[in-house]
Parts: sequence; C-alpha cells; structure tokens
Amino acid sequence: MWSIGLNCRISTKVTSIFVTFAYLIMLSSTCGATPTLDTPIIDPKSRFHPVYSREGMVVSQEIIASRIGANILALGGNAVDAAVATGFALAVSLPRAGNLAGGGFMLIHLTKRNETIALDFREVAPAQASRDMFLDLNGDVDNELARSSIKSSGVPGTVAGFLHAHESYGRLPLRQVIQPAIDLASKGIVVSVDLAHSIISRANRLRRNPATENYYFKSSGAFYQPGDRFIQKDLADTIRRIGVDGHAGFYEKKTAKLIVEQMKHSGGLITLDDLKNYRVVERKPICVYYQDKNICSMPPPSSGGVHLLQMLNILEDWDLDTLGHNSAAYIHRLVESMRRAYADRSAYLGDPDFYDVPVSQILDKRYAARLRKEIDLSKASLSSDVYPGLAIDPDRLLRNLNKPVKESVETTHFSTRDKWGNTTSTTTTLNFSFGSGISVAGAGFLLNNEMDDFSAKPGSPNGYGLIGGVANEIQPGKRPLSAMTPVIVFDSTGDPLMATGSPGGSTIISVVLQVILNILEFDMGIAEATAAARIHHQWLPDRVGYEKGISIDTLNILRNMGHSMDEAPRVLGSTQTVSKGALGGSIGASDTRRDGAGAAPQN
Ligand code: GLY
Repeated sequence: MWSIGLNCRISTKVTSIFVTFAYLIMLSSTCGATPTLDTPIIDPKSRFHPVYSREGMVVSQEIIASRIGANILALGGNAVDAAVATGFALAVSLPRAGNLAGGGFMLIHLTKRNETIALDFREVAPAQASRDMFLDLNGDVDNELARSSIKSSGVPGTVAGFLHAHESYGRLPLRQVIQPAIDLASKGIVVSVDLAHSIISRANRLRRNPATENYYFKSSGAFYQPGDRFIQKDLADTIRRIGVDGHAGFYEKKTAKLIVEQMKHSGGLITLDDLKNYRVVERKPICVYYQDKNICSMPPPSSGGVHLLQMLNILEDWDLDTLGHNSAAYIHRLVESMRRAYADRSAYLGDPDFYDVPVSQILDKRYAARLRKEIDLSKASLSSDVYPGLAIDPDRLLRNLNKPVKESVETTHFSTRDKWGNTTSTTTTLNFSFGSGISVAGAGFLLNNEMDDFSAKPGSPNGYGLIGGVANEIQPGKRPLSAMTPVIVFDSTGDPLMATGSPGGSTIISVVLQVILNILEFDMGIAEATAAARIHHQWLPDRVGYEKGISIDTLNILRNMGHSMDEAPRVLGSTQTVSKGALGGSIGASDTRRDGAGAAPQN
C-alpha cells in the first residue's frame, strides 16, 4: 500500500502504474492541492520508466506517428482525433503494418458519455469469394494463393474505420487531422534503421510485384539506407483524396478504380461494389471483472477479446502475486490457461454476423472454474488431451499440426489518451509484414493478405499456426477471425485506467494478458510491465515459447513438469500502453522490443 497526502490513499494493488507521477509531485496537504515538482520523476524501485505528460499521450510503434498524434492533441483534438492522425501517419511511416488497405479494431472510451464503443473495421471477403477458394486439386490449402496472391486480399476497412471514428467522435476537421500524414508522405521521412531493415528482410517478396518494387526500392533497384529520404508521392495523393472526399475518396472515385484495375490486372476478386458496400460495424465491447477492475476488449470477429477475458477468468482465483512473477508455478498456470483458451478458439470463434459465437458461455465464470479444476498444478497437460471445452459439438479438427508453419508477427497497435480522459486503443493490420506484398499501382499503398485469417480448410493452420473451424470458413461478406486484442482497463470507480494492445499474430492475446497481469497482479508500472520477459503457448503446436529473461532454473522446473520449452524465434509482441497518472495527466510506455516505437507526450 502506498499513500499520498494526508487523506488520499490508493487502496488497490494497482499502485505502481501511478508511481512515476507520484514521485513527481508532492501534495501540500490534501488531495486536490496544486502539485509541486519537489522530487525527480523516478520510481527508485523500477528499472523502467514511462513518459509523463500533464495532459494527453500517444504511444505507437513508430515515434514520428506518435508525435503527430500528440501534436493533434496540442491543437485541441481529442483522443479520437489523435488516434486517427496517428493511424494515417503509420500508413506512411510504418508501411509494413500501418496501412490504408488493411483493417482493424478500435476501442473508444468517451468520459463525458461514460460510454465505450468497439469499432470493427475488419476486412471482409469479397462477394466473389468462396469457401474452397484456396484449396488445390487435392483439397489441400495452397498457401501461396492464400498468403501471397492478390486473392488473399479482403475488402479493406481501415480508411472507413478511421473516418467513422473521426466523424462520430472526433473534434477537429478531417483535413487538419489528415494533413500531417499527407506532409509526411509528400515531403518524405528519414529512413530509420527499422524501416530499412524491414524492407531488406522482405526484399524477395516485395520485388515480386512491380508496383511494390517501384515504391519500396530506389529507381536503381538499390535499398533505401538509414538516413535516406523516403518520399511516397502516390500515397500522399491518395491520402489527399481521402481528405477531400472522405469515404468516397477511397471507396469510390479514383482510388477505388485504381484498386479494381489492380484486381483485374492480377486476377483479384474485389469489385467497385465490394468497395462501395464496405461498412464499419459498431459493436458492444465485451468486459469482465478481474477482481475489482473491469477489463474491456473487442468482441468477435476478434478472438483476442474473448480469450483474453476467458484466460483472466481462469487465472483470477489463484493468488498469482504470491507465486512470484515468472516463477514456474505462475508460468504453468498461464500455459494451461492458454492451452484451453486457444483450443476453444479453434472451434467456436468466427464472424458473429455469420456464426453464433458462444461468447457468454466462454466468458461464464462457472466455465472458467471448470477449466481451472481440470488443470493439474503439478504437471503439464498434453495438448492432444485438451479439446474445445464447451458442450457444443466442435468442428472436426485435424491433429497433425506439429509441423512448423511460416509465421508472421506483424500488425501494429497504438493507444491515445487526452486531457479529458478520453481513451482509445487501436490495433490495425495488413496481416503479414507488408501484407500480400502487392501494391495498388498509382495509389501508393499495399494490399492486405487477410483472407489467410479465414480457415481455408477446417483444421489446417493459418500463417500463425492457428487452427480454425467452420465458424471461420470463407463466405462472401464475412470478416476473418482475428487475434487483435485492443483493451481498455477500468479502475474500480469506472474510470479508464489504461489502454494497451500488441501486434504479433497468434501471440497477441497471450502478450496482452501478461502485460495486464504484470500491472494488476505484480504491481509493476506500465514501463516495467512492458519490458518484462514473456511466454507464449497456443494449444497447437504443444510447445511453449519464451523470451530471454526467464531463468534457467525456472525453465528446468517447467520441463520437469512436462512442458516443452523453446526460446521463441523472436521477441513476443510490441505493446503500446497509455495510462492515467495518479492525480491527472497521462503516462505512456512503448515497447522497446521493436526499434522505433515511442511514447509522445502532449506538450
Ligand atoms: N492478421 C492478424 C490478426 O488479425 O490477428
């Protein structure tokens, strides 16, 4: 317990989240007195510190985009304006994941209305899509077709999502919010190490499409080097058209025609009607109480929200804090909860507009108690013994799934908070790094390969090794299941405490879970919670990935319990978190796992 002032006591476990701000100020006598800067901005017990602002904060995976969002706050914009400005900027400065032609989810909490909105701007399958479109003559999934061809692109939702958020909940004119992204694209950005590296590491894929090669390589064919200027004129023009004509500036008129020309040229399915018919869906967020905190996330077609909350339900009854952070006993409980949640994901999750997803059954605390009871605290279960657990006949599942799959860890998250406490949490994606690798010639942006997030064949793993069932089979107009997990956590008074989320394909859900538990259970501040080593398990394959930083002793105990522990081939996730400061203001923590991320305070 930690106290400030004479009669201002923070009475929950969640103290460290505030500590940075607490050390910043000294109250003269009571809560509400004017803070004074008497002590440094340091929590002497933490090795990691968040960024502080007296007002708002933007945190994203690319610092230029974060600063653009923070500047929009300084110009009088709210958290939604900042999110939209950041989102458009990321389409320019983080082209491998930021996007115009992808999709995503945005949670918005509006303090004045005390309302939380879940925006679904996930891609949809084109009208000409069909269930077996990615199967070859033998009935096997043609991964090349599903992941790298133009048929892998769903009808994009990002622009519609950003425009809907802005129009419904923003304050500033669209042109003001969108102008910084236009400037960024037309004047160019200085190539960062991260941008140069992301292009180099995907060069073969990017060079396969002439428009992409034209956009992401020098005219000589050489790579952009860190420090070079990278100008995207076609992209600037496309964003400008959105600024002028709004929704029609992308889904109709010139941009739509360019998209459809590209489809015709390369054998794609998206038509002018598909584009014109694209709609954002406002959904009701799903929330569960974890102790006295209300955790809200995205409902289906996100699987992230459902299974994050399901895992929290399973874990809630154990005294995790007394087990010790990243102890074997704690990690064992995490893994066993993940095993059961990801098994359920394989069978029951899909687009709720097409399939009756049993959300309330999965989130029932009694169901969590049943799953918890199944868990042997002394030894690992075998994934082959764990089935989707509801008394609903799961789809036929194929089980030869321990073969390695080509994984991608892209997607990107950003969180914003304004001085009024309005909070947003947005995850958006092209699916793989640089999506399908195919650009729309003349329009300057990449197409997603989100159709691979459908289950091309029930029981076969997608690009993240995730299994799906008929709930997630392809149908025209349907949205593919996603792991994206934007979250807003509310404190016991109902105020938004923090917002977070992550990229990372199938690992998103487990990464977000651990950041939340680090804060709520282990009393870490948001920066420390972000930095702590993570693990990941997803039922199949029956392996646990871990980051450096889990002790060898712990790994040995877990192996002796029967867990197959492997160092993860890459870091797990990249969370971008904002939170309220103790007595006002905002704090932000970006994840140092991927170069170039940053928290930008409103100045
Ligand atoms: N494309 C990654 C996801 O939506 O989960």
